[in-house]
Amino acid sequence: AQDALVVFTPSGKRGRFALGTPILTAARQLGVDLDSVCGGRGICSKCQVAPSFGAFPKLGVEVREDALSPWNQVEERYRAKRGLAPGRRLGCQARVMGDVVIDVPPESQVHKQVVRKRAEAREIVLDPATRLYYVEVPEPDMHNPKGDMERLRDALAEQWGLAHAQGDLRTLQGLQAALRAGEWKVTVAVHQGAQTGGARIMQVWPGYHEGPILGVAFDVGSTTIAGHMVDLASGQVLASSGLMNPQIRFGEDLMSRVSYAMMNPGGAAEMTRAVREALNALIGQLCAEARADRGAVLEGVIVGNPVMHHLLLGIDPRELGWAPFALATSDSMELWAAEIDLEMHPDARLYILPCIAGHVGADAAAVVLSEAPHQSDDLVLIVDVGTNAEIILGDRRRLLACSSPTGPAFEGAQISAGQRAAPGAIERVRIDPQTKEPRFRVIGSDLWSDAPDFDGRSVTGICGSGIIEAVAEMRMAGIIDEDGAIGSAEATGSARCVPDGRTHAYVLHDASAEGGPRILVTQADVRAIQLAKAALTAGAQLLMDKMGVEKVDRVVLAGAFGAHISPLHALVLGMTPDCPVEKITSAGNAAGTGARIALLNAAARREIETVVRRIEKVETAVEPRFQEHFVNAIAIPNKAAPYPELAK
Ligand code: FES
Repeated sequence: AQDALVVFTPSGKRGRFALGTPILTAARQLGVDLDSVCGGRGICSKCQVAPSFGAFPKLGVEVREDALSPWNQVEERYRAKRGLAPGRRLGCQARVMGDVVIDVPPESQVHKQVVRKRAEAREIVLDPATRLYYVEVPEPDMHNPKGDMERLRDALAEQWGLAHAQGDLRTLQGLQAALRAGEWKVTVAVHQGAQTGGARIMQVWPGYHEGPILGVAFDVGSTTIAGHMVDLASGQVLASSGLMNPQIRFGEDLMSRVSYAMMNPGGAAEMTRAVREALNALIGQLCAEARADRGAVLEGVIVGNPVMHHLLLGIDPRELGWAPFALATSDSMELWAAEIDLEMHPDARLYILPCIAGHVGADAAAVVLSEAPHQSDDLVLIVDVGTNAEIILGDRRRLLACSSPTGPAFEGAQISAGQRAAPGAIERVRIDPQTKEPRFRVIGSDLWSDAPDFDGRSVTGICGSGIIEAVAEMRMAGIIDEDGAIGSAEATGSARCVPDGRTHAYVLHDASAEGGPRILVTQADVRAIQLAKAALTAGAQLLMDKMGVEKVDRVVLAGAFGAHISPLHALVLGMTPDCPVEKITSAGNAAGTGARIALLNAAARREIETVVRRIEKVETAVEPRFQEHFVNAIAIPNKAAPYPELAK
């Protein structure tokens, strides 16, 4: 026979090829996802495949031992120098000599999937805007007067199909040396942006450069800024870090920062400077953790709520402080990192996700990208809990979004013993419904408070998830009634219910005898949680009204804080609409994940830009029903909405 059958797994793609065809060529012709950075020169080993031999009745193939060509010099050289795992061949060197079954291992796929654990979340597929290409550039010669850059550009077009690649002056300054040091073989990092149009050469290395090439993803929150550093070539997270947003000194929450800008000339510029400095510090932390140089960070993606978005970009945020809350732009943006003073590679590009509305920002867009409600058959409610909750309801047919001013109670602010989530803070609470005695756990310790070794003096306060569980447990134990009123010692039968001014408080912890703290849940604390959760639920119910539904199929709690809320306690409080408790899940920092998806997959950027245009915005401030829902939702769980799931 002059040709042979090649079957690729796991794709199952198959075709007949002339004997002597390299596996990489066969893969390309069949559209099998097989990677190559060096263009088939036996240098990068990205094309590794695992041939199988023997009989495969299901595939209808019998593979003989000599179905592939023997090792050639290039492959031997690679194996001697860099090693190749047993059973692996270089797809660009091994040639078809008979019917064969070829497995493409995950790491050899161009669009490999980056690991993500949650089943209901979308997959992250690697397809970054910045990539490495290995090219062989013809040497200059007297008969061909083209410059080095032109020959590099032609080589990229010819060998990789990259038309019109452009490099700026800085690239040009290093180009001659790199080409000659690499003996006319170089690796180039090329960024392909949608808005710059065409390909930009960002960096040229002599010879084959394996990477890593670095990218950063930031979620700029009003309280904390989180960052991930990833290898754009492998999708691997190399470092994750976070720091407090230094703008806190200008105001705890968003609106107080907008008012700082309103009251103080130059205030917005001051806050802009502070957040940019913080991002630079965070890049430094990430580089230190990944042992990388900040000059090697080629790309960044940033998400944040509208106020953070405007302040970081140096756009006046005051319009966001009054109706009609107009954004300067809701479009996604591409810019140079240097334009906003970020210290990365001198030509590094940034991508900013689109905003949804005046109160629903690029962080919410990132949550949509991560949780993919637009691909969901179920009706899903996504709640990103923060001082300003961002709420999204929908499925593949229709999407609605709003924001609701929950205030900082869920973060432990406005709570008598409240504190940020830090070691020493009570984060889990259980109250025995019979004895009304509490037990709890603090951050940084595995011990429950009733363990003999537990040190009651180590408790420092109560954080957001702790106060939510405390109030929900108090309700389940009958210490508070449906209206949230804390009963007296006589009414509840618990000596822990003590008078506190004209109301009562519940003593959650008392180590005062040993010189430790006394932690109370006061009536005002319960009220603060009731108001915060009422705002959250009212927003969700407003969207359900608009959608014309009375229930949702599932609820996703997003945000760093959402990750710590127990679904049962959220349901008991009525923080979410009624829903089977197992259908309430936490997505962790979904905005940060969305930023990472946009960093690793250029097509995801186009996707979220399209989806955001489809999202219908609902402004809670002008909806009369919002107030009605809010008042009903102050009760625990709710005056108007039934909670049949809770009864189960
Ligand atoms: Fe680079 Fe095969 S494609 S080694």
